[in-house]
Amino acid sequence: MDDRQIKEAVRETYGELARRFQDAGATAGCGCGSSGCGDSQAIGLYGLEEVAALPDTIASASLGCGNPLALASLKEGETVLDLGSGGGLDCFLAARRVGPTGRVIGLDMTPDMLALARGNAAHLGLSNVEFRQGEMEAIPLADATVDVIISNCVINLSPDKDAVFREAFRALRSGGRFSVSDIVTSRPLPEIVRQNLRAWSGCVGGALELTAYVEKMRAAGFERIEIDRQGGDGCCGDGLAFSARITAFKPSAPAE
Ligand SMILES: C[S@@+](CC[C@H](N)C(=O)[O-])C[C@H]1O[C@@H](n2cnc3c(N)ncnc32)[C@H](O)[C@@H]1O
Repeated sequence: MDDRQIKEAVRETYGELARRFQDAGATAGCGCGSSGCGDSQAIGLYGLEEVAALPDTIASASLGCGNPLALASLKEGETVLDLGSGGGLDCFLAARRVGPTGRVIGLDMTPDMLALARGNAAHLGLSNVEFRQGEMEAIPLADATVDVIISNCVINLSPDKDAVFREAFRALRSGGRFSVSDIVTSRPLPEIVRQNLRAWSGCVGGALELTAYVEKMRAAGFERIEIDRQGGDGCCGDGLAFSARITAFKPSAPAE
């Protein structure tokens, strides 16, 4: 199993889910060992009012495992990048917070997910959100152009997490914030799970031990890394894999 095969399996899984959402407005279930990531309980981590203001078809297309906006402290006028934006729920909520002077960019590598998100954005009539095709290991943005990076249950899907953290750090302005929800583990996963493509697509096979995750972020240059364990024990047996909210900063430039 190589990186290319993992990416193809992930793209296939989320393309299929996007088409299902488009056809039937299907609701996601827990992704453990099944066809995709997403915990139907995770939607409860958002403020009831802000989610209730969105059409059901958009809110129920969430495949996340937490609420990356909870600790992002978004402000009017900020530029936000969502890594692996899926159907766009977090982008739409972020767009409200940054207002008309702000901007939200959703990045996703799966064409059918982008079509779903763009259709949702058109339905909502939001002018400060755009969706771009690309991979978070090679973010298609110039250096230091983003105030905040968010992501919901996506980084675990990458076979090259060093590149993801390196690219996120590069795209952030100095002093910029990183606020993600992701699946991590409390101890190493059994090799049989690591080698299973369905487990990767289900957001478990590629999950790192929390200590390794933090170490990679630190190596990329992030500081003030904080972990907020949330979402219970996860879906994959005695707390081995669980959802965490991870926040960090790109250091401010010395003159600032
Ligand atoms: C589990 S879903 C989460 C979607 C969304 N964040 C949410 O909360 O509903 C993972 C998404 O990340 C995208 N994705 C996976 N790996 C990616 C990568 N390397 N670069 C960009 N997008 C990726 C998939 O296409 C999919 O839309």
